[in-house]
Amino acid sequence: MRSRIAGVGGYLPQRCVTNDELALTVDTSDEWIFSRTGIRQRYLASPEETCAFMGTRAAEAALRHAGVAAGDVDAIILATATPDEAFPATAVHVQGQLGLSTGFAFDVSAACCGFIYAMAAADSFIRTGMARTILVIGSEVYSRILNWNDRTTCVLFGDGAGAVLLQAGPDDGPGILSTHLHANGAYAGILYVDGAVGRKDRSGHLVMKGSEVFRHAVTKLAAAVDEALAANGLTQSDVDWLVPHQANSRIIDAMGRKLGLPPERVVVTVDRHANTSAASVPLALAEAVHDGRIKRGELILMEALGGGLTWGSALARF
Ligand SMILES: CC(C)(COP(=O)(O)OP(=O)(O)OC[C@H]1O[C@@H](n2cnc3c(N)ncnc32)[C@H](O)[C@@H]1OP(=O)(O)O)[C@@H](O)C(=O)NCCC(=O)NCCS
Repeated sequence: MRSRIAGVGGYLPQRCVTNDELALTVDTSDEWIFSRTGIRQRYLASPEETCAFMGTRAAEAALRHAGVAAGDVDAIILATATPDEAFPATAVHVQGQLGLSTGFAFDVSAACCGFIYAMAAADSFIRTGMARTILVIGSEVYSRILNWNDRTTCVLFGDGAGAVLLQAGPDDGPGILSTHLHANGAYAGILYVDGAVGRKDRSGHLVMKGSEVFRHAVTKLAAAVDEALAANGLTQSDVDWLVPHQANSRIIDAMGRKLGLPPERVVVTVDRHANTSAASVPLALAEAVHDGRIKRGELILMEALGGGLTWGSALARF
């Protein structure tokens, strides 16, 4: 069995906030943000645009794209660091909002690498026959965990959701060729949220040592790219598209150069979405599929690194 990408979809909040608008309330500038990160704007969720609401909209878009009825879904795996509630899992709320009452649903917590972890889990369920049609969703409302008085972090993130519908297909057909996951808790202190429902004595805000994360991202993602290619007996020239996590255009450019890909073969959304954490890879994938850039049969390399540290890759023929 192989996990075929049957459909993709995304959702962005209604409200778009440019760097200039942010600079009205935060001591920053469009020039600083854009030159360091490539970000020009981000979307911020309204109170009604919850993690489950956005995940459901993205899931519906992926189902529409695939031409598959919600009733055919037998599992939902949702990656998020910003669930609406400690439990039930946001995936279960999405299941309910899709009108489903069968199958199983759970959340994955691996910060900005969450979608890659969720894809790996879904791929394993399909390969072992536990499920045949799985919604894999990344949905995030980082605006709720940002410290809006910390200009070194609050300018970097945005809200949104992306989804992929995976379906069981033949082993020699298109689909996920490999996933590789890594974590190293020794680096927990360079990117984290200092609190949650189990630690109410802390503020629950995102904290980041940006330059240290940057260094790890460049080296660990480069190694992850090499690992994915070597595991499949492929070389850089076999890759048609890089769909990277969208944290910083300088990290994205470095990975594109490593793969020898021209910039037009690297999907970039960080300029418009900022860093949407677990939603960034599926949002970027959905955009490039729906605007006709990524075509059936092409080879896509997805990679991400996030708090943990967690990092990994997914290589798929679309
Ligand atoms: C966060 C990041 C953009 C910062 O860029 P940088 O070049 O390392 O900038 P620094 O942190 O060294 O800050 C440089 C200066 O800009 C200032 N600054 C920080 N944020 C600012 C902002 N939003 N606006 C204006 N000035 C700012 C700092 O105070 C510092 O000033 P100082 O030199 O007077 O102390 C960069 O480190 C980065 O992208 N890291 C990786 C982040 C990432 O990928 N995170 C997610 C992983 S999932």
